[in-house]
Amino acid sequence: MTRDFIDTQDWSWEDLEGILGDAVDLKRTPLQPLLEGRSIALLFFNPSLRTRTSFELGAWQLGAKAIVLEPGKSAWSMAFDEGVVMDGDAEEHVREAARVLSTYCDAIAVRAFPRFKDWSIDREDLVVRGFARHATVPIINMETITHPCQELAHLLALREWFDTTDLSGRKYVMTWVPHPRPLNTAVANSAVRIATRAGMDVTLLCPDERWLLDERYLEDARGNAERTGGSFQVSHDLAAYDDADVVYAKSWGCLPLYGDPEAQSAAAAEFRHFIVDEAKMARTANAAFSHCLPARRNVKATDAVMDAPSSLVIPEAENRLHVQKALMARMLAGVATNH
Ligand code: CP
Repeated sequence: MTRDFIDTQDWSWEDLEGILGDAVDLKRTPLQPLLEGRSIALLFFNPSLRTRTSFELGAWQLGAKAIVLEPGKSAWSMAFDEGVVMDGDAEEHVREAARVLSTYCDAIAVRAFPRFKDWSIDREDLVVRGFARHATVPIINMETITHPCQELAHLLALREWFDTTDLSGRKYVMTWVPHPRPLNTAVANSAVRIATRAGMDVTLLCPDERWLLDERYLEDARGNAERTGGSFQVSHDLAAYDDADVVYAKSWGCLPLYGDPEAQSAAAAEFRHFIVDEAKMARTANAAFSHCLPARRNVKATDAVMDAPSSLVIPEAENRLHVQKALMARMLAGVATNH
Protein backbone atom coordinates (compact mmCIF):
# COMPACT_ATOMS: atom_id res chain seq x y z
CA MET A 1 0.00 0.00 0.00
CA THR A 2 1.43 3.40 -0.94
CA ARG A 3 1.20 6.22 1.62
CA ASP A 4 -1.04 8.39 -0.57
CA PHE A 5 -4.26 7.62 -2.43
CA ILE A 6 -3.90 9.81 -5.49
CA ASP A 7 -4.47 7.27 -8.28
CA THR A 8 -5.85 3.73 -8.00
CA GLN A 9 -3.39 2.75 -10.71
CA ASP A 10 -0.61 3.09 -8.08
CA TRP A 11 -2.40 0.68 -5.74
CA SER A 12 -2.34 -3.10 -5.97
CA TRP A 13 -5.57 -4.87 -6.82
CA GLU A 14 -5.24 -6.73 -3.53
CA ASP A 15 -5.25 -3.44 -1.59
CA LEU A 16 -8.24 -2.13 -3.56
CA GLU A 17 -10.06 -5.40 -2.88
CA GLY A 18 -9.27 -4.94 0.81
CA ILE A 19 -10.91 -1.52 0.82
CA LEU A 20 -13.98 -2.81 -1.00
CA GLY A 21 -14.29 -5.71 1.45
CA ASP A 22 -14.07 -3.35 4.42
CA ALA A 23 -16.60 -1.02 2.76
CA VAL A 24 -19.12 -3.87 2.59
CA ASP A 25 -18.61 -4.45 6.31
CA LEU A 26 -18.92 -0.73 7.13
CA LYS A 27 -22.09 -0.54 5.06
CA ARG A 28 -23.60 -3.21 7.32
CA THR A 29 -22.19 -1.69 10.54
CA PRO A 30 -21.66 2.04 9.95
CA LEU A 31 -20.58 3.13 13.43
CA GLN A 32 -17.18 1.63 14.24
CA PRO A 33 -14.60 3.45 16.39
CA LEU A 34 -11.71 2.69 14.02
CA LEU A 35 -10.31 6.23 14.03
CA GLU A 36 -11.04 7.41 17.55
CA GLY A 37 -9.13 10.61 18.27
CA ARG A 38 -7.81 10.94 14.70
CA SER A 39 -8.32 13.87 12.35
CA ILE A 40 -8.40 14.69 8.64
CA ALA A 41 -8.21 18.03 6.83
CA LEU A 42 -10.55 18.24 3.84
CA LEU A 43 -9.36 20.90 1.39
CA PHE A 44 -11.93 21.95 -1.19
CA PHE A 45 -10.66 24.19 -3.94
CA ASN A 46 -13.95 23.44 -5.79
CA PRO A 47 -17.60 22.85 -4.83
CA SER A 48 -19.01 19.52 -3.73
CA LEU A 49 -22.15 17.93 -2.38
CA ARG A 50 -21.34 14.20 -2.19
CA THR A 51 -17.62 14.29 -1.48
CA ARG A 52 -17.80 16.79 1.34
CA THR A 53 -20.80 15.19 3.03
CA SER A 54 -19.52 11.63 2.75
CA PHE A 55 -16.00 12.42 3.97
CA GLU A 56 -17.13 14.64 6.82
CA LEU A 57 -19.85 12.26 7.99
CA GLY A 58 -17.67 9.21 7.36
CA ALA A 59 -14.89 10.57 9.58
CA TRP A 60 -17.42 11.25 12.34
CA GLN A 61 -18.90 7.74 12.06
CA LEU A 62 -15.38 6.34 12.64
CA GLY A 63 -14.73 8.58 15.65
CA ALA A 64 -12.48 11.04 13.80
CA LYS A 65 -12.71 14.80 13.36
CA ALA A 66 -12.85 16.30 9.87
CA ILE A 67 -11.94 19.93 9.29
CA VAL A 68 -13.23 21.44 6.04
CA LEU A 69 -11.12 24.21 4.51
CA GLU A 70 -11.91 26.13 1.35
CA PRO A 71 -8.72 27.87 0.18
CA GLY A 72 -9.53 31.23 -1.32
CA LYS A 73 -12.77 31.42 0.73
CA SER A 74 -12.60 30.25 4.34
CA ALA A 75 -8.83 29.66 4.17
CA TRP A 76 -5.98 31.58 2.54
CA SER A 77 -5.48 31.18 -1.19
CA MET A 78 -2.37 29.17 -2.05
CA ALA A 79 0.50 29.03 -4.50
CA PHE A 80 1.98 25.77 -5.76
CA ASP A 81 4.74 26.61 -8.23
CA GLU A 82 8.25 26.21 -6.86
CA GLY A 83 10.27 29.41 -6.76
CA VAL A 84 7.24 31.57 -7.52
CA VAL A 85 7.30 35.28 -6.65
CA MET A 86 4.08 35.47 -4.65
CA ASP A 87 2.95 38.95 -5.65
CA GLY A 88 -0.49 37.76 -6.86
CA ASP A 89 -3.57 36.60 -4.93
CA ALA A 90 -2.01 33.68 -3.06
CA GLU A 91 -1.16 34.40 0.57
CA GLU A 92 0.66 31.17 1.36
CA HIS A 93 2.58 28.39 -0.33
CA VAL A 94 1.76 24.69 -0.26
CA ARG A 95 5.19 24.17 1.33
CA GLU A 96 3.94 25.76 4.55
CA ALA A 97 0.26 24.77 4.27
CA ALA A 98 1.03 21.06 3.84
CA ARG A 99 3.58 20.99 6.65
CA VAL A 100 1.40 22.96 9.09
CA LEU A 101 -1.66 20.78 8.42
CA SER A 102 0.55 17.72 8.92
CA THR A 103 1.32 18.89 12.44
CA TYR A 104 -2.42 19.07 13.24
CA CYS A 105 -4.02 16.27 11.26
CA ASP A 106 -3.43 12.60 10.51
CA ALA A 107 -4.37 12.89 6.83
CA ILE A 108 -5.09 15.56 4.23
CA ALA A 109 -7.68 15.15 1.47
CA VAL A 110 -7.66 17.48 -1.53
CA ARG A 111 -10.19 18.41 -4.21
CA ALA A 112 -8.55 20.56 -6.88
CA PHE A 113 -10.00 20.55 -10.38
CA PRO A 114 -7.83 21.56 -13.33
CA ARG A 115 -7.65 25.25 -14.18
CA PHE A 116 -8.83 24.53 -17.75
CA LYS A 117 -6.27 26.81 -19.39
CA ASP A 118 -3.38 24.59 -20.43
CA TRP A 119 -3.69 20.80 -20.28
CA SER A 120 0.09 20.35 -20.43
CA ILE A 121 0.18 22.06 -17.00
CA ASP A 122 -3.07 20.63 -15.60
CA ARG A 123 -2.00 17.06 -16.42
CA GLU A 124 0.83 17.42 -13.87
CA ASP A 125 -1.80 17.59 -11.08
CA LEU A 126 0.32 20.16 -9.23
CA VAL A 127 -2.00 20.85 -6.31
CA VAL A 128 -2.44 17.33 -4.97
CA ARG A 129 1.13 16.40 -5.95
CA GLY A 130 2.35 19.51 -4.10
CA PHE A 131 0.56 18.37 -0.97
CA ALA A 132 1.95 14.86 -1.39
CA ARG A 133 5.49 16.24 -1.74
CA HIS A 134 5.41 18.53 1.28
CA ALA A 135 3.03 16.81 3.73
CA THR A 136 4.25 14.26 6.24
CA VAL A 137 0.83 12.55 6.51
CA PRO A 138 -1.15 10.54 3.92
CA ILE A 139 -2.88 12.42 1.10
CA ILE A 140 -6.24 11.47 -0.42
CA ASN A 141 -7.41 12.65 -3.83
CA MET A 142 -11.03 13.87 -3.62
CA GLU A 143 -10.98 14.60 -7.42
CA THR A 144 -8.32 16.34 -9.38
CA ILE A 145 -7.60 14.99 -12.87
CA THR A 146 -8.78 11.58 -11.69
CA HIS A 147 -11.48 10.64 -9.18
CA PRO A 148 -10.25 7.50 -7.41
CA CYS A 149 -12.86 7.53 -4.62
CA GLN A 150 -15.59 7.59 -7.27
CA GLU A 151 -13.93 4.59 -8.93
CA LEU A 152 -14.27 2.53 -5.75
CA ALA A 153 -17.90 3.56 -5.21
CA HIS A 154 -18.69 2.76 -8.86
CA LEU A 155 -17.04 -0.64 -8.67
CA LEU A 156 -18.90 -1.51 -5.48
CA ALA A 157 -22.22 -0.43 -7.03
CA LEU A 158 -21.58 -2.65 -10.06
CA ARG A 159 -20.64 -5.61 -7.85
CA GLU A 160 -23.84 -5.13 -5.88
CA TRP A 161 -25.95 -4.83 -9.04
CA PHE A 162 -24.51 -7.96 -10.64
CA ASP A 163 -24.29 -9.71 -7.25
CA THR A 164 -20.71 -10.83 -7.84
CA THR A 165 -17.21 -9.54 -7.26
CA ASP A 166 -16.20 -10.90 -10.66
CA LEU A 167 -17.07 -8.35 -13.35
CA SER A 168 -14.74 -9.80 -15.96
CA GLY A 169 -16.21 -10.15 -19.42
CA ARG A 170 -19.01 -7.62 -18.83
CA LYS A 171 -19.49 -5.22 -21.71
CA TYR A 172 -18.85 -1.75 -20.30
CA VAL A 173 -19.47 1.49 -22.19
CA MET A 174 -18.03 4.77 -20.92
CA THR A 175 -19.99 7.28 -22.96
CA TRP A 176 -19.39 10.98 -23.40
CA VAL A 177 -22.62 12.95 -22.94
CA PRO A 178 -23.49 16.60 -23.70
CA HIS A 179 -23.18 19.53 -21.31
CA PRO A 180 -23.32 23.28 -21.98
CA ARG A 181 -19.81 23.74 -20.56
CA PRO A 182 -16.58 21.76 -21.01
CA LEU A 183 -16.01 19.66 -17.89
CA ASN A 184 -13.18 17.79 -16.23
CA THR A 185 -11.96 14.54 -17.80
CA ALA A 186 -11.30 13.08 -14.33
CA VAL A 187 -14.20 10.64 -14.08
CA ALA A 188 -13.69 9.33 -17.62
CA ASN A 189 -9.94 8.94 -16.97
CA SER A 190 -10.78 7.03 -13.82
CA ALA A 191 -13.55 4.91 -15.35
CA VAL A 192 -11.46 3.49 -18.19
CA ARG A 193 -8.72 2.60 -15.72
CA ILE A 194 -10.85 0.85 -13.10
CA ALA A 195 -13.18 -0.89 -15.56
CA THR A 196 -10.22 -2.41 -17.42
CA ARG A 197 -8.60 -3.41 -14.14
CA ALA A 198 -11.80 -5.24 -13.27
CA GLY A 199 -11.37 -7.23 -16.50
CA MET A 200 -14.36 -5.82 -18.33
CA ASP A 201 -14.66 -5.37 -22.10
CA VAL A 202 -14.48 -1.60 -22.12
CA THR A 203 -15.46 0.82 -24.88
CA LEU A 204 -14.78 4.54 -24.64
CA LEU A 205 -17.58 6.10 -26.71
CA CYS A 206 -17.08 9.74 -27.70
CA PRO A 207 -18.18 11.92 -30.63
CA ASP A 208 -14.87 11.97 -32.49
CA GLU A 209 -11.11 12.00 -31.92
CA ARG A 210 -11.22 15.45 -30.33
CA TRP A 211 -12.81 13.91 -27.23
CA LEU A 212 -10.15 11.25 -26.76
CA LEU A 213 -8.68 11.22 -23.28
CA ASP A 214 -5.03 11.95 -22.57
CA GLU A 215 -2.88 9.11 -23.95
CA ARG A 216 -1.70 8.37 -20.37
CA TYR A 217 -5.15 6.99 -19.48
CA LEU A 218 -5.72 5.22 -22.80
CA GLU A 219 -2.35 3.51 -22.40
CA ASP A 220 -3.21 2.47 -18.83
CA ALA A 221 -6.55 1.09 -20.03
CA ARG A 222 -4.87 -0.91 -22.81
CA GLY A 223 -2.23 -2.23 -20.39
CA ASN A 224 -4.79 -3.13 -17.73
CA ALA A 225 -6.94 -4.96 -20.29
CA GLU A 226 -3.94 -6.93 -21.48
CA ARG A 227 -3.11 -7.98 -17.92
CA THR A 228 -6.67 -8.85 -16.83
CA GLY A 229 -7.86 -10.51 -20.04
CA GLY A 230 -10.42 -7.78 -20.70
CA SER A 231 -10.36 -5.44 -23.68
CA PHE A 232 -10.26 -1.75 -24.43
CA GLN A 233 -11.39 0.06 -27.54
CA VAL A 234 -12.50 3.50 -28.65
CA SER A 235 -15.67 4.03 -30.67
CA HIS A 236 -17.44 7.03 -32.16
CA ASP A 237 -20.45 4.93 -33.13
CA LEU A 238 -23.59 4.66 -31.00
CA ALA A 239 -23.67 0.98 -31.93
CA ALA A 240 -21.31 0.67 -28.95
CA TYR A 241 -24.51 0.46 -26.88
CA ASP A 242 -25.45 -2.86 -28.49
CA ASP A 243 -25.57 -5.63 -25.86
CA ALA A 244 -23.80 -3.49 -23.23
CA ASP A 245 -24.05 -4.62 -19.59
CA VAL A 246 -23.02 -1.25 -18.15
CA VAL A 247 -23.44 2.30 -19.44
CA TYR A 248 -21.47 4.91 -17.52
CA ALA A 249 -22.08 8.50 -18.61
CA LYS A 250 -19.98 11.61 -18.17
CA SER A 251 -19.35 14.82 -20.06
CA TRP A 252 -15.85 16.17 -20.58
CA GLY A 253 -14.14 18.88 -22.57
CA CYS A 254 -12.08 18.13 -25.65
CA LEU A 255 -8.34 18.42 -25.20
CA PRO A 256 -7.45 19.97 -28.62
CA LEU A 257 -9.65 22.99 -27.73
CA TYR A 258 -8.57 23.09 -24.07
CA GLY A 259 -8.50 26.65 -22.70
CA ASP A 260 -11.15 27.84 -25.17
CA PRO A 261 -14.51 27.05 -23.50
CA GLU A 262 -16.60 28.79 -26.18
CA ALA A 263 -15.02 26.74 -28.97
CA GLN A 264 -15.44 23.57 -26.93
CA SER A 265 -19.10 24.27 -26.24
CA ALA A 266 -19.71 25.07 -29.91
CA ALA A 267 -18.06 21.79 -30.92
CA ALA A 268 -20.06 19.84 -28.34
CA ALA A 269 -23.36 21.40 -29.46
CA GLU A 270 -23.33 19.20 -32.58
CA PHE A 271 -23.50 16.10 -30.42
CA ARG A 272 -26.59 16.63 -28.27
CA HIS A 273 -27.84 13.30 -29.61
CA PHE A 274 -25.23 11.59 -27.37
CA ILE A 275 -27.69 12.01 -24.48
CA VAL A 276 -28.43 8.67 -22.80
CA ASP A 277 -32.07 7.97 -23.59
CA GLU A 278 -34.49 5.04 -23.56
CA ALA A 279 -33.85 4.22 -27.24
CA LYS A 280 -30.12 3.80 -26.65
CA MET A 281 -30.64 1.84 -23.44
CA ALA A 282 -33.03 -0.45 -25.33
CA ARG A 283 -30.08 -1.53 -27.48
CA THR A 284 -28.24 -2.83 -24.41
CA ALA A 285 -28.52 -6.13 -22.56
CA ASN A 286 -30.72 -4.42 -19.94
CA ALA A 287 -27.61 -2.51 -18.87
CA ALA A 288 -27.02 -0.87 -15.54
CA PHE A 289 -26.76 2.89 -16.00
CA SER A 290 -24.70 5.17 -13.81
CA HIS A 291 -23.25 8.65 -13.51
CA CYS A 292 -21.05 10.09 -10.75
CA LEU A 293 -23.43 13.04 -10.20
CA PRO A 294 -24.14 15.90 -10.34
CA ALA A 295 -25.97 15.27 -13.63
CA ARG A 296 -28.10 17.65 -15.68
CA ARG A 297 -31.35 15.80 -16.38
CA ASN A 298 -32.53 15.69 -20.00
CA VAL A 299 -29.16 17.02 -21.17
CA LYS A 300 -26.87 14.16 -20.15
CA ALA A 301 -29.52 11.51 -19.55
CA THR A 302 -33.30 11.54 -19.76
CA ASP A 303 -35.55 11.43 -16.71
CA ALA A 304 -36.58 7.89 -17.67
CA VAL A 305 -32.97 6.70 -17.69
CA MET A 306 -32.05 8.50 -14.46
CA ASP A 307 -35.12 7.07 -12.68
CA ALA A 308 -35.06 3.55 -14.16
CA PRO A 309 -34.73 0.58 -11.79
CA SER A 310 -31.38 -0.13 -13.48
CA SER A 311 -30.06 3.35 -12.64
CA LEU A 312 -27.27 3.12 -10.06
CA VAL A 313 -26.74 6.84 -9.56
CA ILE A 314 -28.04 6.84 -5.97
CA PRO A 315 -26.43 3.56 -4.80
CA GLU A 316 -23.11 4.67 -6.34
CA ALA A 317 -23.32 8.02 -4.54
CA GLU A 318 -24.19 6.25 -1.27
CA ASN A 319 -21.18 3.99 -1.70
CA ARG A 320 -18.89 7.01 -1.59
CA LEU A 321 -19.51 7.06 2.16
CA HIS A 322 -18.70 3.39 2.69
CA VAL A 323 -15.59 3.16 0.49
CA GLN A 324 -14.09 6.37 1.84
CA LYS A 325 -14.55 5.23 5.43
CA ALA A 326 -12.81 1.97 4.54
CA LEU A 327 -10.07 3.94 2.77
CA MET A 328 -9.46 6.32 5.69
CA ALA A 329 -9.43 3.46 8.19
CA ARG A 330 -6.96 1.42 6.13
CA MET A 331 -4.69 4.36 5.36
CA LEU A 332 -4.44 5.41 8.99
CA ALA A 333 -4.48 1.96 10.56
CA GLY A 334 -0.77 1.40 10.29
CA VAL A 335 0.26 5.02 10.81
CA ALA A 336 0.93 6.12 14.36
CA THR A 337 -0.56 9.51 15.12
CA ASN A 338 2.01 12.16 15.99
CA HIS A 339 -0.58 14.48 17.51
N1 CP B 1 -19.40 12.77 -7.60
C1 CP B 1 -18.93 13.78 -6.82
O1 CP B 1 -17.70 13.86 -6.57
O2 CP B 1 -19.87 14.61 -6.36
P1 CP B 1 -19.60 16.06 -5.71
O3 CP B 1 -18.93 16.89 -6.80
O4 CP B 1 -20.92 16.59 -5.30
O5 CP B 1 -18.66 15.89 -4.57
